[in-house]
Amino acid sequence: MKDERWKHGGDIYTNGVFKGKDLVDFSSNINPLGVSDLLKDSIEELFNEVVRYPDYQYRELKASISEYLLRYENVNVSSEEMILGNGASEILDLSLSKIRKLGIVVPSFVEYEDFALKYNAEIEYINLTGDFQYDYSEILSSLNKLDGIILGNPNNPTGNIIDKEKFKDILDFAEKENKKIIVDEAFVEFSREGSSLVDKIASYKCLVIIRAFTKFFGMPGARLGYGITSDKQFIEELKKYQLPWNINSFAEIALEKSYKDENYISKSREWIANEIGYMKNEFAKLSIFKKVYDTNCNFILCKLDTMKTSELYEILLNKGILIRNCSNFKKLDDTYVRFAIKSRNLNKLLIDNLKNL
Ligand SMILES: Cc1ncc(COP(=O)(O)O)c(C=O)c1O
Repeated sequence: MKDERWKHGGDIYTNGVFKGKDLVDFSSNINPLGVSDLLKDSIEELFNEVVRYPDYQYRELKASISEYLLRYENVNVSSEEMILGNGASEILDLSLSKIRKLGIVVPSFVEYEDFALKYNAEIEYINLTGDFQYDYSEILSSLNKLDGIILGNPNNPTGNIIDKEKFKDILDFAEKENKKIIVDEAFVEFSREGSSLVDKIASYKCLVIIRAFTKFFGMPGARLGYGITSDKQFIEELKKYQLPWNINSFAEIALEKSYKDENYISKSREWIANEIGYMKNEFAKLSIFKKVYDTNCNFILCKLDTMKTSELYEILLNKGILIRNCSNFKKLDDTYVRFAIKSRNLNKLLIDNLKNL
C-alpha cells in the first residue's frame, strides 16, 4: 500500500490528536496569529446567519473579494470573473478537469497531479532549475505541445515566485495559441507585495489565478478559496459542475470580516517580514542542513546533510514537533524537509531542538 504518512502537511491527527498528544505543527503553513479579531467579535452574527441558506449567488461575498483585491492589488475584478470554491482545492480540481495535456512544474503541490489524473490528463513534468527557480525557457518550449500548465506563485514546497518580466513571453504565447496558464496563489499574501499576477487578468484571458482564504487568514478549517479569470466562458463551464451553496455561512462571514481587518493584515505582514529573516539566519548556522533554499513565503525548504528526513521526523515527533517530510514531492527525496514559519516562541523552540540533535 502507498505510504500516505507524508501526503500532506497538517496531519496532527494520526500522531497527535488520536494519541492524546499536543503537537506543534511545523508541517502546515498557516498564519500563526490565529484568526482576525474583527471575526472573533462577530460570533453572534455567525449564529444569526447559519439558520438560513446563504445567498446562492454569494453577492456580498464576491463584493468583499472585489473590494479586497482593489485595496491590496489595485485591480478591478467583477463577480462574473470570479468563481468560489470549498477551499482553493475545489477550483484547482475543476480547472484541471479542463486540461487534457497538462504541464506540471515540479516539485510542487502533490494534489496537482492527483487532481489531473482523476480526469485522465496526459501529464508532462517540467523541472525547476537546480536552485528551485522557474526555468522560463523550458516552460515556454514545453507549452508548445501542451493545452496548459499549472504552477505555484509562490510555489509549494520551494517558496519561489514568478518573475513577471520573464513570464511575459509565456503569457503572450499562451494567449495567442489558446493555452491555459493556471497559477496557484494560495500563499501569495505571504510573499512580498506586488508578487501576484492578478494585475494581468484583464490583458490575458488565458490566465486563471487561484487564491485561498485558508492560509494567510489562519482558517484552513473554513474551506474557502476562489478562482479569477477574465475568461468568463471558462468560469461558466466550471460552475456547471459545482453544487449549489458550496460555501457555508461561517466561511462567508469569516472572509467578509477578515478581509476588512486592515490591522490584522498589516500585523500579519509585519510578522512574516520579521520571522523570515530570523529563520533564515538561524538555519544558516545549523550544521544538519546541506542547503537552506531561499524563500518568498511562510515556509522554508531545506536539504539535510547526512541525516534522513524520516529519522529527523521521528526524533522531533517524540519531542512534540511535527515537520513535513518532502519525500512524496516529485523530484525530492528523504533528505528534504519543509518547515512552516510560526511565531517567534515556536520558531525558537524548533531551532533549539535542531541545535540539540
Ligand atoms: C499550494 C497549495 N495550493 C492549494 C492548497 C489548498 O488550499 P485550500 O485549503 O484552500 O483548499 C494547498 C494546501 O495545502 C497548497 O499547499
